Amino acid sequence: MKILAIETSCDETAISIVEAKGDTKSASFRVLGDTLLSQVDIHKEYGGVFPMLAKREHAKNLIPILLQTLKEASLWESGTHEIDTERIDTILEREPELLELFKAHIPTVKKPAIDAIAVTHGPGLEPALWVGINFARALAQVWNLPLIPVNHMEGHIFSGILQEKESGESYDISFNSFPLLALLISGGHTELVLVKKWGEYEIVGSTRDDAVGEAFDKVARLLDLPYPGGPEISRLAEQARQHPNKLENVGMSERFPRPMLNSDNLDFSFSGLKTAVLYYVKDKNLSEEDKQKIAREFEDAVTDVLVGKTQKALEEYGARTLVVGGGVSANKHIREELEKKLAETNSSVFIPKHNLTTDNAVMIAVAGFYNHLAGKTASPETIIANGNLAL
Ligand code: KG4
Ligand code: ZN
Repeated sequence: MKILAIETSCDETAISIVEAKGDTKSASFRVLGDTLLSQVDIHKEYGGVFPMLAKREHAKNLIPILLQTLKEASLWESGTHEIDTERIDTILEREPELLELFKAHIPTVKKPAIDAIAVTHGPGLEPALWVGINFARALAQVWNLPLIPVNHMEGHIFSGILQEKESGESYDISFNSFPLLALLISGGHTELVLVKKWGEYEIVGSTRDDAVGEAFDKVARLLDLPYPGGPEISRLAEQARQHPNKLENVGMSERFPRPMLNSDNLDFSFSGLKTAVLYYVKDKNLSEEDKQKIAREFEDAVTDVLVGKTQKALEEYGARTLVVGGGVSANKHIREELEKKLAETNSSVFIPKHNLTTDNAVMIAVAGFYNHLAGKTASPETIIANGNLAL
């Protein structure tokens, strides 16, 4: 079946069309079209994501991105397709800019050979989620297609499990040795999730305050680095690791804490680590080398905690496989350390390929396929955005 997937939970507007085959035991996926527009440069100015600005950008870009993705998938054909204007007016009444573009373009496109529409319904920024959901509802109405709501975090889990085939843009999933442990690390989440089987999740650990990505972003701000801070910190830390001698005399007089590393549970806390950095940099004039050293020490602290808690969770639940997902899984040091330390205990680890670490619509299509197999579709009347949707 061909799934059109829409992702607008944060600051990426993404649409993909994925052909999915198989069942929960063994499935294969071919990406027919995939378009992603990042708003990072727009939000950079404000040092973070502004929900109403994100919403406006999604509304402006969804139609052009849809048309481009249909063309890429060779599913675009001009023609006439009558739409029930009154229905569409109601569905998109809160998105006037999108409504206008919808009415201008969709009636000139023939119904494409698509079987279902998957859309992220949470967690994320509610105004941003709503644009994607209402767009999906309008398309489902016009093309008479079923709607599949997808949990964004479930998408991140699947992005790691996808095994790329040699042909490129094609993937397999044939993982069956449950339980699987997922470490989800992003700007909004830090969670250890036990996957008992596809669609059955239990959160066994989570952050009590800041998410890891959030901590990276906040520490970056303390070091006067631009948003998003993760890649910036990781770049500086890498430099410190490459030139350890040069930094010998810079003098990190203290190690940052490894919060909750030895606590009795699987929870995390990163706000204390951020505060430690805050005190450390206070009233200091930081040189480039100071920043490199702080970045490395911070990254080491985060990595120690993530690796330690993950190993504890694997042991506690008798899981032998880890999947990592979310924007922070792009971090080279965290990836390498997880791989190294897990190899020592004969556990294996799945990590997404680079372009699937951050938000994207391919993972939403894949998760949508599993939801479809499980019969989890939604009616256009009842689907709602849930900013705090849990797995
Ligand atoms: O999953 P994602 O794209 O969006 C959310 O759902 O939050 O994650 C974004 C987060 C940001 O906090 C960003 O700073 C962080 O991922 N990030 C990184 C790296 N690349 C992105 N953190 C550490 N190292 C990186 N290389
Ligand atoms: Zn995400």
